[in-house]
Amino acid sequence: MVRGDTLEHLVPSPAEARAWQVIRALAGYARRTATDPPQGHGSRPGGAAAGTPLAMRFADTAGRRWTWRPDQGWVAEPPAADPVERDLLDLYLPLCVPVVDGCRMTAHLGQSLDGYIATANGDSCFVTGPDNIRHLHRMRALSDGVLVGTETAARDDPRLTTRLVPGANPVRIILDRQRRLGSHLRVFNDGAAATLLCCDRAYVTAGRDRQGQARVIGLPIHDGRLDLIALAETLAELGLRRIFVEGGGATVSAFLTAGLLDRLQIAVAPLLIGTGRPGLRIPAPERLADARRPAARLFRMGADLLYDLDLRRGSTAAPLTPVTRIL
Ligand SMILES: NC(=O)c1ccc[n+]([C@@H]2O[C@H](COP(=O)([O-])OP(=O)(O)OC[C@H]3O[C@@H](n4cnc5c(N)ncnc54)[C@H](OP(=O)(O)O)[C@@H]3O)[C@@H](O)[C@H]2O)c1
Repeated sequence: MVRGDTLEHLVPSPAEARAWQVIRALAGYARRTATDPPQGHGSRPGGAAAGTPLAMRFADTAGRRWTWRPDQGWVAEPPAADPVERDLLDLYLPLCVPVVDGCRMTAHLGQSLDGYIATANGDSCFVTGPDNIRHLHRMRALSDGVLVGTETAARDDPRLTTRLVPGANPVRIILDRQRRLGSHLRVFNDGAAATLLCCDRAYVTAGRDRQGQARVIGLPIHDGRLDLIALAETLAELGLRRIFVEGGGATVSAFLTAGLLDRLQIAVAPLLIGTGRPGLRIPAPERLADARRPAARLFRMGADLLYDLDLRRGSTAAPLTPVTRIL
């Protein structure tokens, strides 16, 4: 297994660096355009309502022209010729779209072949290899907010930064319904990025509206849990429109069950844990025919395989798109 402190040496190839520069530029352009539509060809025609797709055009530093088409996403002219560059663009460009209403949420889990994300005592460093860890940092860089559950914050003390790739740190969002987490955790003290602690609003009392440097957000409770729909609305009101839910299993399962996820990424590592903390736990159908089978793409990341599921597309009968890409 590769340790986190040895990951900094991961050096991108020139094609990867080129692709990442374009991806960041398009993500930034889409973000700016969503909040401040340009006049002329790039604007929402006739002041159309929020939610109407924008027409966008963009030229990258290599002179390639990009057009955003609602049915196809970003299309380049001329298209990328290098296969590594093309694969990175394919993976990340679906996330670089303008979000003009609500939030778009993507979740990720890295799991063993037998379906666990950590050992029974919570050790998860690391289930997946360095290429997938770098992918997590890229996902953070493309997001306005990165969110983790209470157990993940307590067990891993993560920093949730983009230190392995060029790109800004997102706002860190920590769920802690009962405010069980200690202020010593790095997200509350390191000053690396703005941090929100989300709890039951009953725990936001006078003089307890901060946790270290983090701002505390009180939320309603639904069925004994934080109301995740109210959370999504609050994040959108704060301008956080692309949210990356980075674990753990209970948290990703809760967002999936609430119907809040647009994409789900599951990285499968060639590892057998035996028993441990499970990944997804969601309501099960009686019949296999009723199980969800979303549109899926498959990307290879070192020894791991990443399934990228589009939860807004596909049906129970849709076949897996047989695309294997090497990253
Ligand atoms: N391999 C990976 O991709 C990965 C990623 C992240 C973390 N991890 C590992 O996974 C472990 C933590 O994952 P986890 O699944 O145990 O915990 P988690 O998702 O980090 O947090 C669990 C918390 O979520 C709340 N919760 C539980 N069920 C819920 C539900 N149905 N709806 C809403 N909220 C619910 C509970 O808090 P309340 O009772 O207070 O509401 C619970 O304490 C750690 O060992 C960490 O290292 C692995």
